[in-house]
Amino acid sequence: MDNLKTIASYSGTFKIGDFVVNRLGFGSMRLTGRGIWGPPTDRREALAAVRRAVELGVNFIDTADSYGPDVAEELIGEALAGRGDILVATKAGLRRPGPDQWTPHGRPEYLIERAKGSLKKLGVEQIGLWQLHRIDPRVPMQDQFAAVRQLLDEGVIANAGLSEVSIEEIEAASRYFKVATVQNRYNLVDRGSEDVLDYCERNDIGFIPWFPLAAGDLARPGGVLDSLAKRHAATAGQIALAWMLKRSPVMLPIPGTSKVSHLEQNVASARIQLSDDEFADFEGSVG
Ligand SMILES: NC(=O)c1ccc[n+]([C@@H]2O[C@H](COP(=O)([O-])OP(=O)(O)OC[C@H]3O[C@@H](n4cnc5c(N)ncnc54)[C@H](OP(=O)(O)O)[C@@H]3O)[C@@H](O)[C@H]2O)c1
Repeated sequence: MDNLKTIASYSGTFKIGDFVVNRLGFGSMRLTGRGIWGPPTDRREALAAVRRAVELGVNFIDTADSYGPDVAEELIGEALAGRGDILVATKAGLRRPGPDQWTPHGRPEYLIERAKGSLKKLGVEQIGLWQLHRIDPRVPMQDQFAAVRQLLDEGVIANAGLSEVSIEEIEAASRYFKVATVQNRYNLVDRGSEDVLDYCERNDIGFIPWFPLAAGDLARPGGVLDSLAKRHAATAGQIALAWMLKRSPVMLPIPGTSKVSHLEQNVASARIQLSDDEFADFEGSVG
């Protein structure tokens, strides 16, 4: 039997600045309370999920100042106790007036203040990867990118990324800083960011698909995902993650869960290797 501690490494690696991360990461948004608001219902389980991820070889954890707000960052800070070998990727740029409410907020001084606040919550001296959560349409884009440049220059953050952006926006940001990663919604049934993914692949930018587990009708009994799952003795969700890992070498999925059992199931998908034929058949049946 394989050593469980290295399971995530079967997903392959990707370089973000000086960090080499296993491509299958962990998303921490679900560690918080209902509506991504307040503390988790089971704090012990939430901390255990983060620690279990690391035990299984996950060394790339996505979070944001707005998850809770602050709750996810504080839980990760507590669970990891400042471990420098895990790349924690946080974000700012969305304000939280209440549960399930997200408002873009891109004033440069706000972004800088929030990034510095993340240092404290995560218990680190530098943020390995910081992402602009949204480009605020009410603030000149250049001002937001200049704030990111300032964070890099001051050493508050080591690498910078973007979230929910177009190719044009990546190119505009690239005039201010090296865009290390892009985080857009992407999954088997929502592939509106194919052009951005291809752009990232051409330019060696990490592509972080959020909401990676949505499989919709594809997962129905007798469907293409269901038959692939049976063949690999896996769940539909695991096949969805394996498909994503095969789709591109720059793909860095961050499935999110608050439960250790789900976490273990998700990380185990790193071991599932779809053949080229299976991948092509799948594309043909949904394309
Ligand atoms: N950049 C952005 O704007 C943005 C937006 C949204 C999310 N994100 C990031 O992306 C990450 C992933 O997105 P997401 O959490 O929305 O979607 P997801 O990972 O596709 O799905 C998470 C949901 O699936 C459930 N789940 C997870 N593993 C499961 C399993 N093995 N079996 C059954 N259910 C399972 C979780 O519930 P349980 O807790 O019950 O397992 C949760 O409700 C987030 O954690 C966050 O870090 C970024």
